[in-house]
Amino acid sequence: MVSGLAPGGARAVARCDALGVAPFSDMAGGLYRGYLTPAYAAAQQAVADWMAEAGMTVHRDAAANLIGRYEGVDPAAPALMIGSHLDSVRDGGRYDGPLGILLGVEAVAALHDSGRRQPFAIEVIAFGDEEGSRFPAAMLSSRAVAGTLKAEALDLVDGQGVALADAGVDIATYLSAARPPGTVRAYLEAHIEQGPLLEAEGLAVGTVTGIAAQLRYQVRVMGTAGHAGTTSMALRRDALPGAAEMVLAVERIARADASDLVATVGRIEALPGAVNVIPGEVCFTIDVRSGDAARRDRGAAVIVDAIAAIAAARQLGITTQLVHDLPASPCDPALMDLMDAAITGAGQPPRRLVSGAGHDAMVMAALCPTAMLFIRCRDGISHNPAEHVDPDDAEIALAVMSGFIERLGAQSDHG
Ligand code: GLV
Ligand code: MN
Ligand code: MN
Repeated sequence: MVSGLAPGGARAVARCDALGVAPFSDMAGGLYRGYLTPAYAAAQQAVADWMAEAGMTVHRDAAANLIGRYEGVDPAAPALMIGSHLDSVRDGGRYDGPLGILLGVEAVAALHDSGRRQPFAIEVIAFGDEEGSRFPAAMLSSRAVAGTLKAEALDLVDGQGVALADAGVDIATYLSAARPPGTVRAYLEAHIEQGPLLEAEGLAVGTVTGIAAQLRYQVRVMGTAGHAGTTSMALRRDALPGAAEMVLAVERIARADASDLVATVGRIEALPGAVNVIPGEVCFTIDVRSGDAARRDRGAAVIVDAIAAIAAARQLGITTQLVHDLPASPCDPALMDLMDAAITGAGQPPRRLVSGAGHDAMVMAALCPTAMLFIRCRDGISHNPAEHVDPDDAEIALAVMSGFIERLGAQSDHG
């Protein structure tokens, strides 16, 4: 697959494109690759082959992450990990995740082709569950590697009623994917910006300074299902208009903050979901983020109070369950300097920017220093099939990553 292409950033983009369709997608006519689905297994196989071709030994860890290792001069030296995620959102783009993995493969391929090794091993890791689009949790598999996941967090069931325990991983050994502290020197993630800033400034790449804090809730609104023709308006306890009012409250509260606070209702389901039945139950999600954890928490508290008040006024039941809480995660200052130097070395102007999107890097920060490189994407569009990356920008990103690796290697050489 995608044979005949010369190694490099453009090949990484072409490989992302190849992974954007069946059998690497779980949906027809678009891309959805859920954690541990058949498309996920097929994509892992393709990436494993590319890793092996680039001189890496490949294995799947206990959390179903795919890891390719390119040995260093000193096998005992803490490894540099380079990675991102193989899963996608529903009807997503082709580059959010896979590009960071496949640029890592290209960086190793370049070393392998020239018969060189760094003082430390390089491990390219394809995480499984960054998006949280299958199970009601996110970044499970990177949290397992970082050693921050708790066993009780594995008690999960997907939208089809399949438990994580039955989805193709062994829950009893899942947490053994944790890497011992001190064994990973740094984690490097290249990712499309998913925003418009680099493009607006005519820049191909930028150094990420940190990642915004996230909270996610699962809300259940309970009313009374009933006949759409016979129940008068005055006697209804319709869960859906109540939920609609709550959705508008979420938007109003985040807008009123006039800060970097953002809040999103991304999934909503009315039950039983029939044209002639008053909805007796509505389930929806809320995602709240800010670069400032205190602001995020204040905004989330106002939202939770507001939706409870709406439920009470409408005599609806409500449960609001916190399902995901990740603190803001600053990137490592010394690695940011190294990234700026690598950007300059690749003939590009350095530019620092913050990430509103979540990334596996924010989880890996608990294990080791982290660095992120953002790559310009067209119109800032992401989580959308229109997501687009220019192959020339991917070449620049690869040059920056290679320069970053060389600089880190030189630091090791000098003790
Ligand atoms: C992942 O893309 C997220 O920011 O939710
Ligand atoms: Mn994403
Ligand atoms: Mn991503």
